Amino acid sequence: MTQNFSLKSYLTEGKKLIEDYLNKCLPAPQTWPETLHQSMHYSLMAGGKRLRPILCLASTECLGGNQEEALAAAAALEMIHTYSLIHDDLPAMDDDDLRRGRPTNHKVYGEAMAILAGDALLTEAFRLLSLSHYPQDPLSRLQLIQIIAEASGSQGMVGGQAIDLLSEGKKITLEALEKIHQNKTGKLILASVQAGALIAGAQGEDWKRLSRFAQNIGLSFQIADDILDIEGGEDIGKDLGSDLEKNKATYPALLGLEASKKRAKALMEEALDCLSIYGEKGQALKAIAEYVVSRKN
Ligand code: IPE
Ligand code: IPE
Ligand code: MG
Ligand code: MG
Ligand code: MG
Repeated sequence: MTQNFSLKSYLTEGKKLIEDYLNKCLPAPQTWPETLHQSMHYSLMAGGKRLRPILCLASTECLGGNQEEALAAAAALEMIHTYSLIHDDLPAMDDDDLRRGRPTNHKVYGEAMAILAGDALLTEAFRLLSLSHYPQDPLSRLQLIQIIAEASGSQGMVGGQAIDLLSEGKKITLEALEKIHQNKTGKLILASVQAGALIAGAQGEDWKRLSRFAQNIGLSFQIADDILDIEGGEDIGKDLGSDLEKNKATYPALLGLEASKKRAKALMEEALDCLSIYGEKGQALKAIAEYVVSRKN
């Protein structure tokens, strides 16, 4: 890693780039129907780490692509992620009151509007993708849409969320838990990296390496999230102890805290190995992988 690479500045700059773009493409809060658009803005513009879009931009950069070309895909991924959070917090799901340091969407706008804000963000994401000119090759553009749709749907994030809920209060195997985590969280993270790679024109070994990298950080991201639900401090911005309260299937519940931390770190190291060939170009992705397991929120 170069001496002067600062992850902090990289994340701050990435966040600004994405938030400016999101603000530009989402209908303004005063657009009809106002309440719905306000509810969408409330959650989408509430901050958050913007990790998925930043990963998308960093993957493009790692393969020598142009970050500007990845902005639409990055924004679409953040919209889908935010929709998943709004729905995840609903009383019928995790029933949480705090998200991104604010009352959850349904606490402010009511359950019906929260459901609809999620629906609209998901749809808006695909509208945005349909308008994008990148990647330039039309077949690759379709492939991008397919990757993001599959990662988000019943055999991706939504599927993982379904099994997460069906597993509450049950004792499940480590294999089953890993599958939940890979789907509910890992697949959108994988799609974020693959989207960036595709926009940079990735093929063959590059595609495989970056995909392996993303699978490793995707799982370690959710293990770290499970750990933070127990050990997180004030800056987490969401309800602590939510998993225990709901008797969720989590890594700490199954393996204990120490073994969970070890597993997350081992996955992070495997992720780093996938990037060794990229040298300085991969420094942002490497630093993000380390951040995934060391973060405090
Ligand atoms: C929280 O995601 C939900 C999970 C998939 C664990 P993040 O921790 O990325 O949440 P934000 O976007 O920073 O709020
Ligand atoms: C949710 O996992 C993953 C999503 C797809 C939203 P969690 O339920 O553990 O996420 P948090 O802890 O509420 O952010
Ligand atoms: Mg959940
Ligand atoms: Mg939750
Ligand atoms: Mg959690």
